[in-house]
Formats: sequence, C-alpha cells, structure tokens
Amino acid sequence: MSSEASMLEKFDEKIRKEIKIEPRDWMPDKYRKTLIRQISQHAHSEIVGMLPEGVWITRAPSMRRKVALLAKVQDEAGHGLYLYSAAETLGTTRGEMIDDLHTGKAKYSSIFNYPAITWADIGAIGWLVDGAAIMNQVMLCRTSYGPYARAMVRICKEESFHQRQGYEIMLTLAKGSEEQKAMAQDALNRWWWPSLMMFGPPDAESKHTAQSMAWKIKRKTNDELRQQFVNATVPQAKLIDLTIPDPDLVWNEERNSYDFGEIDWEEFWNVVKGNGPCNKERLEARQNAAKNGEWVRDAAIAFAEKQSQRKSNKEQVA
Ligand SMILES: [Fe+2]
Ligand SMILES: [Fe+2]
Repeated sequence: MSSEASMLEKFDEKIRKEIKIEPRDWMPDKYRKTLIRQISQHAHSEIVGMLPEGVWITRAPSMRRKVALLAKVQDEAGHGLYLYSAAETLGTTRGEMIDDLHTGKAKYSSIFNYPAITWADIGAIGWLVDGAAIMNQVMLCRTSYGPYARAMVRICKEESFHQRQGYEIMLTLAKGSEEQKAMAQDALNRWWWPSLMMFGPPDAESKHTAQSMAWKIKRKTNDELRQQFVNATVPQAKLIDLTIPDPDLVWNEERNSYDFGEIDWEEFWNVVKGNGPCNKERLEARQNAAKNGEWVRDAAIAFAEKQSQRKSNKEQVA
C-alpha cells in the first residue's frame, strides 16, 4: 500500500472513531481546503457582522442597552480572531484571508448585507441572526477538526448571551406602545426570511454538504438546522405576541415540526452575488479599516524590529 493510502486509512479511522484531527496530523488536501474556506468565511462573517450593529452603539436608547450592545459587538471581534487563528493552523495566513475578503474572492454570511434601520433591528438581529448562528455553531462544537471545535465551545457561550439580549429587546418593544410594537413587528418581517437563508441552500442543491457530512465537518444538514431553528423560534414569537411573516406556517403533528413557506432563493443568490442592499458598503468599510489601520501595523512591526535589534546588540556586548 502506498504511504498516501495508508495515511488516508488512518485519517478515515480517526473520523470514524470520533478522534479529532489536529494541525500536525496528515489530512487529505480537500479536507484542508474545505476547512480553510469554511473557517475563514466564518471569521469574515464575525467581523463584517460587527458593522450593521456597530452603528447603533451611539444610538442605543439607554446606558444598559449601550453596554450590552458594545459588549456583544466586541465579542464578535473576538470570535473573528479565534477563527482566523484556527484557520491559520491549516497553513494559511491572516493576511491572505483578509486579502481574499477585500478582493471579493472570499464570502461572508449574506445576512450582513442587510441594513439595521431601526433600534428594533438590533433586537431582531440578536434574536434571529445570533439564534440561527447558534444552531449552526452548537453543531460545530463536535466538528472533526480540533482547533475549530474548541473555538466553537467558547463562542457558543457568548452567542447564547447575544441571542437573549436580542430577544429581551424584542420583548420590551412588544410590550411597549403601539408604535414600539409595530417597530418590533416590522423588524421581524424584514429579518425572518434572510435568517432562514442563513442555513444555506436546500440540501439537494448544496454542493458541499455530502462531503462535509462524511468528514464530520458538518454534523447536520442545512435543511435539518433550518427546521430546528423554525421549531425553536416560532414559540418565542408567540410568547411575545409577534407574528411570523409566513402565511404557510403551520404545525405538522405527524412530523412533530412546523411546515413553512417557500424561501425566495432568487433573493438569496442575488445577495450572494453582491447585489444585496449593503454589499458594497460593507466591503468598503472593511477595505477602509485596513487602509486606515496600516500605520498602526507598520508602527508595531517597526517597534518589534527595534526591540529585537536591541536584544541582539545586548547579547553581542555580553
Ligand atoms: Fe459571533
Ligand atoms: Fe453573536
């Protein structure tokens, strides 16, 4: 048996026995590439995801809301950094990943190409977008690549706080004045369908799902996760007396799940291709951040060089 075949056999056995794959282990090239694509895309989503909410920090309606939102947006930055580090263990660099984002080669979650128009959107984002992210990320705590799985455990703890702070904003608005309630309903109307799209295309059309399931990178399919999200979220909407904007939504006793209406996949692909309401703005914000921060990075590199120069001078003297 060739050495590649025997290494592949060992790899497959680890996957079968639920032993995590670690950075120094041999892995098929496609497994490595799939993970780099997925983890970097996930990292970019965390970072770009700070943009729609970040603009509301100065406009939060109270000190308490401001502190919570600020903490949440900072958490997302932290998630991005863990994930870039996890991807770097596979042999890519943060610089390469960020370049790919800025040139449009790498994607991030399309949900962040929608604008946060009112304060209620901050509630809807926490409740629905972070809620959908949790479904996906809880599954990823058991993903087969060790560094990714471990990053997810910590991230998930923070995501559940994000989801609750969003739901609490919605609860408060839904119990408030007529105008506040209408604002909450309007935010739900606009964020509901894009949140369902977050799980990706239907299983039948998802080109990566089968291989990712076989490698145990993914443990549940797009449609399974989407269903799980709908089942968890519909009762939450009922509890605060808001209406899910889907006339076809109905409990299915037999399936023990909600049936729901057709998703507008044309809209989904349109946003993925760059034609969503904020694609251009989001990318420009990231490109400008890189440009405006260049002097900080240059200064840090110059300082590090000076330090190491000083150290080696001292060693020569000694
Ligand atoms: Fe996050
Ligand atoms: Fe989050």
